[in-house]
Amino acid sequence: MSEAVTSRAATGREAAAVIETHDLGKVYSPGSEAEVVALRGVNLRIARGDFVAIMGPSGSGKSTLMNLIGCLDTPSTGRYACDGVDVATLDAEELAMLRREKIGFVFQGFNLLPRMNALENVAMPLAYAQVPPHERLRLGREALAAVGLSERADHRPSELSGGQQQRVAIARALINRPPILLADEPTGALDSRTGEEILSLFKSLRDEDHTVVLITHDADVAAHADRIYVMHDGELHPEGGGAALS
Ligand SMILES: Nc1ncnc2c1ncn2[C@@H]1O[C@H](COP(=O)(O)OP(=O)(O)O)[C@@H](O)[C@H]1O
Ligand SMILES: [Mg+2]
Repeated sequence: MSEAVTSRAATGREAAAVIETHDLGKVYSPGSEAEVVALRGVNLRIARGDFVAIMGPSGSGKSTLMNLIGCLDTPSTGRYACDGVDVATLDAEELAMLRREKIGFVFQGFNLLPRMNALENVAMPLAYAQVPPHERLRLGREALAAVGLSERADHRPSELSGGQQQRVAIARALINRPPILLADEPTGALDSRTGEEILSLFKSLRDEDHTVVLITHDADVAAHADRIYVMHDGELHPEGGGAALS
C-alpha cells in the first residue's frame, strides 16, 4: 500500500473514486454475425492518486476498456462514473468536454506533430480550450519543466530521443491538468532503461495525486504499479485472482 493511500486512510476519509465502473459491458456489432462481446461485467474502482496497471493478452479487451474509461466510447451495458459524472447522462458534446477536462492520453507511438517543436506540441491542446497564445506558451513551458525537458523546448520530435518524445507526449497529456492519465503501452516503443524512466515519471505524477492507469502486456512494466488487474476474455480480475491464472 502506498504512503499516499495510508495517509489518506489515517485522515479517516475514504479517497473519492475518480474511476468507478459497475458491471460494465461492451458488445461490438450487436445482433449481427460479426458480434463481439469485448467486455463483460467489469467492476473497477480507482481513487485519486492510484497507480494501476491493466494487463492481458492481445484481444482480451484492454483497449476497449481504455476507450470507455477515456470517454472515447460508451458502454453497451453497466455504468461508468468518471470523476463522479455518470457518462450515460451526457450527449456526445458533453462527453467530449468531460474527456478534455478529465483525461490525458499517452500512447505507444507518442503521436507528436513532426513540424512543431516540443513546446508547440505540448501547448497544442490549449488552442481548443481558447487560452490566449501567450498564456499557452507559459503553461507549455511549465509542463515541459515538470517532465524535465525545459532545455528541449525548441527541438522538433525528430531531434529528440524516444524517451524525450514520450516525455513531451506526457507533458501534452497533462497540459489541461486532468486528474486521470491513461497510458496504452507507453513504454512499448522504448528500450527497457528508458521505459523505466517513464515509469518513474508516472510514479512521481501518482505522488502528486494524479490517477495513472497503465495498460500493458508486459508483467515487468505492470510491476511498477501499486495494483495490477488482468483482463481475460473481456473479464477483469485482480492479479492473483484464480480466474486470471487459469
Ligand atoms: N471497433 C471494433 N469493432 C469490432 N470488434 C472490435 C472492435 N474493437 C475491438 N474489437 C474486438 O474486441 C475484442 C477486444 O479487443 P481490444 O479491446 O482491442 O483488445 P486488446 O486491446 O486487449 O488487444 C477483440 O476480439 C477485438 O477483435
Ligand atoms: Mg489494445
